[in-house]
Amino acid sequence: MRKMAAAVGSVATLATEPGEDAFRKLFRFYRQSWPGTADLEGVIDFSAAHAARGTGPGAQKVIKSQLNMSSVSEHNAYRAGLQPVSKWQAYGLKGYPYKEVTKWRPRSLLEKLRWVTVGYHYNWDSKKYSADHYTPFPSDLAFLSEQVAAACGFEDFRAEAGILNYYRLDSTLGIHVDRSELDHSKPLLSFSFGQSAIFLLGGLQRDEAPTAMFMHSGDIMIMSGFSRLLNHAVPRVLPNPEGEGLPHCLEAPLPAVLPRDSMIEPCSMEDWQVCASYLKTARVNMTVRQVLATDQNFPLEPIEDKKRDISTEGFCHPDDQNSEVKRARINPDS
Ligand code: OGA
Ligand code: MN
Repeated sequence: MRKMAAAVGSVATLATEPGEDAFRKLFRFYRQSWPGTADLEGVIDFSAAHAARGTGPGAQKVIKSQLNMSSVSEHNAYRAGLQPVSKWQAYGLKGYPYKEVTKWRPRSLLEKLRWVTVGYHYNWDSKKYSADHYTPFPSDLAFLSEQVAAACGFEDFRAEAGILNYYRLDSTLGIHVDRSELDHSKPLLSFSFGQSAIFLLGGLQRDEAPTAMFMHSGDIMIMSGFSRLLNHAVPRVLPNPEGEGLPHCLEAPLPAVLPRDSMIEPCSMEDWQVCASYLKTARVNMTVRQVLATDQNFPLEPIEDKKRDISTEGFCHPDDQNSEVKRARINPDS
């Protein structure tokens, strides 16, 4: 039985479809993968304490990475509602240098929610940000993001745009590169909450086989330097490894006393109950981006630009099963 599972779970046994690239093949493999089986043996788990030393898939690829602890004060971490800086753990990947789900039908508006944008609002059709489609970036999220960026060596990072992706257990996010921001020398920060996901990080080209890794609740991924423009995707959302329901990290109460200059504010019990019950069966991913370089403005658009084909690249937000590649399409049955 175990042998069967191992055989079924091997990527190598999956036949390549005609014309299929390595990324797509793995995307298909993880889309149909099952938690608790050999399917997930090749997925790096950063939260496994032994990831950097053991014999799991992380052993060869994961390296412990240094944060600039001196760039973030304990007080600012506390103000941002983060764990003490001394508890932060960072990992890198070698070769990526730094510098049966039942069909689900939405009933409520909350269940239909796929994405929200903040700051410079991303236009899914033109794939552009613009000066005239802007609302102030939430100051608490900006402060939090800037502390995290500083710890990674980006002291002048400015949080200007955010995309929140809302995933149900059958949602996927198609293969894409985030290239709409005008300054790619700045990192892209990705925060995950609620249920877990398999994240595939590929190369500059689609045909490069990706590395699979878990993103659990509370994990923060930084895509910067060479990794900023790599292909990536989310083929699978799966229950958090602690078991049913809300991950423990989301149940931790706020400190009884908050600093006078705290950036976080307690929300009402009613509001938190809505979030908590949503996150028991969903994953929320928030990406935070700097759009413009320091002192840069949005370029004036040449008239012809407006007519350019906008449908060539499959930029994606989470979609339901069987429609993972194109963004902005929501399965009408679900
Ligand atoms: C994105 C993205 C990854 C994730 O929003 O561009 O790649 O983990 N999100 O949801
Ligand atoms: Mn992305």
